[in-house]
Amino acid sequence: MNIVRVDNYEEMSKASARYIIDKVKANRKMTLGLATGSTPKGTYQYIIEDHKQKGTSYQQISTFNLDEYIGLSAKDPNSYHFYMKDVLFNHIDLPLNHTHIPNGDVLDKEEECVRYEAKVKESSIDLQILGIGANGHIGFNEPGTSFQSETHVVALAESTREANARFFPSIDDVPTHAITMGIASIMASKEILLLVSGEAKSEALERLLSDQLPSEDFPASILKTHPRVTIIADNEALMATG
Ligand code: F6R
Repeated sequence: MNIVRVDNYEEMSKASARYIIDKVKANRKMTLGLATGSTPKGTYQYIIEDHKQKGTSYQQISTFNLDEYIGLSAKDPNSYHFYMKDVLFNHIDLPLNHTHIPNGDVLDKEEECVRYEAKVKESSIDLQILGIGANGHIGFNEPGTSFQSETHVVALAESTREANARFFPSIDDVPTHAITMGIASIMASKEILLLVSGEAKSEALERLLSDQLPSEDFPASILKTHPRVTIIADNEALMATG
């Protein structure tokens, strides 16, 4: 794993946007894997700024998001469909029919998982952007998830619901389940870019960078076995690591 240390969230956002933009320029038809949450918001802002100022085009790019809550419609401001339009898709020239996000608002969730996994496999992700949970989750793959897992329905850990409650009126409004790409689906990406910012993630990052063997108790640890992982982390995230 290649580690890039930066000063703060702003620098992490700039460096990761630059990393993604350079890849897009080198391969105009690439497939990008996208994450939601707080961490990549600044990255998306810099991608938008570059698109507006320098005209980097996303017309032939395709995207796949990691996950979506179950039970929220695409119009719900807390859905990841809404988030992606709000923070990225509405502001660049990426055709909406090139974007893919699991549909958490369908009757047959299992069928949706099979459909989504097939799409991911067919396209094959060139660069997957990831954030990390304080408990080591990637996507919504909580501790204990099989490293062989493909797109599946998950019950969210209480700690994950609490961490995400800040976006909802109350914790009771946070969905209990989600659809997520599995660990095997993530690991099939040709390259992975993990973004880590802030003290709240420092223990998780320390554990990831330690010499502990990969273990399903700590999902992100599988990344150690991927041949092309870059981590862009800020000083606070690296504080426990030294
Ligand atoms: C988001 C996702 C999650 C987040 C993680 C960190 O699509 O799959 O794994 O990356 O929960 O979230 P933030 O960035 O909000 O700390």
